[in-house]
Amino acid sequence: MISDAADIVISVDGLSRSFGVMKAVQKVGFQVARGEIFGLVGPDGAGKTTIMRMLAGILAPDCGAIRIGGTDVVGDPEAAKARISYMPQRFGLYEDLTVAENIGFYADLFGVPRRERRARGRELMAAAGLDAFEQRLAGKLSGGMKQKLGLVCALIHTPQVLLLDEPTTGVDPVSRRDFWGILYGLRESGVTIVLSTAYMDEAERCSRLALVHTGSISHCDTPDRLKRLMPGALLAIISDNPREVRAILTGASGVLGMLLMGDRVHVHVDDATRRIAEIRDLLAEKGMSAELGVVEPGIEDVFVALLNAGERS
Ligand SMILES: Nc1ncnc2c1ncn2[C@@H]1O[C@H](COP(=O)(O)OP(=O)(O)OP(=O)(O)O)[C@@H](O)[C@H]1O
Ligand SMILES: [Mg+2]
Repeated sequence: MISDAADIVISVDGLSRSFGVMKAVQKVGFQVARGEIFGLVGPDGAGKTTIMRMLAGILAPDCGAIRIGGTDVVGDPEAAKARISYMPQRFGLYEDLTVAENIGFYADLFGVPRRERRARGRELMAAAGLDAFEQRLAGKLSGGMKQKLGLVCALIHTPQVLLLDEPTTGVDPVSRRDFWGILYGLRESGVTIVLSTAYMDEAERCSRLALVHTGSISHCDTPDRLKRLMPGALLAIISDNPREVRAILTGASGVLGMLLMGDRVHVHVDDATRRIAEIRDLLAEKGMSAELGVVEPGIEDVFVALLNAGERS
């Protein structure tokens, strides 16, 4: 749902791809406007990487169309690659090269002029907090630092479109914040970003999200609008034994789903006013004391609810 006036950079229609009998991606379609950060979210094996690889022009679809910046990715993947930078889920760093050498390697690959690459490399390394590690072998970096180096390498040329497949998996929260700082900076300069993520705080930061489930996009909208799609209400129950609370409420009438979150259980119910009293009684019967209230759903609650609703229907 983007306005007609928006400058559409990515346009995907009827995209499908199977591996043998496995229908990894089925009739996927979406559009992304310039400067958006478009998120693909969904369970393991949902088809996110397969979609990304087709967007990047390195995996041919069985059918469907992809246009990026006016180029037909399916018909002319080589032309499209000039506009795209793709960071795969397992980014190929050379472990026996230093940080600086890895960046140099990718700068060569993308044909970045020498003068430009030094300034750009410095800027990205500082933003990623990697400047003190320029001479360290990539193989000796921590997992999170490797991910950040992957991003620096993917950004060493200035792409029109950036495709990032789970770029922050294994990256600590502080580094993830740095990483998002880099992404926001790129967005400001007009780069269009598609990323997949398993982190719900990151999903909240995207301008729009596609929920990918068994190879299809079941929902696609802004995080706020997706939250409004959630039927019923969400209750938070705070208890010193949240697992016990979950066990007691499993199968209780009106309970559509539950999510354990630290010391609380998020309980998705069909009707808040009616179920609050019932749940209080149920917990009291088992001698449990718990605080109970209605809360605003987070994007994770919404996805669990929407996936459950899809499976029920
Ligand atoms: N090259 C391949 N050969 C055979 N099956 C494949 C291949 N690539 C992907 N698949 C299958 O297609 C489905 C979608 O996989 P994909 O990697 O796109 O999921 P994903 O959403 O990226 O998962 P994850 O969150 O685990 O990265 C899975 O069932 C996977 O096993
Ligand atoms: Mg994947």
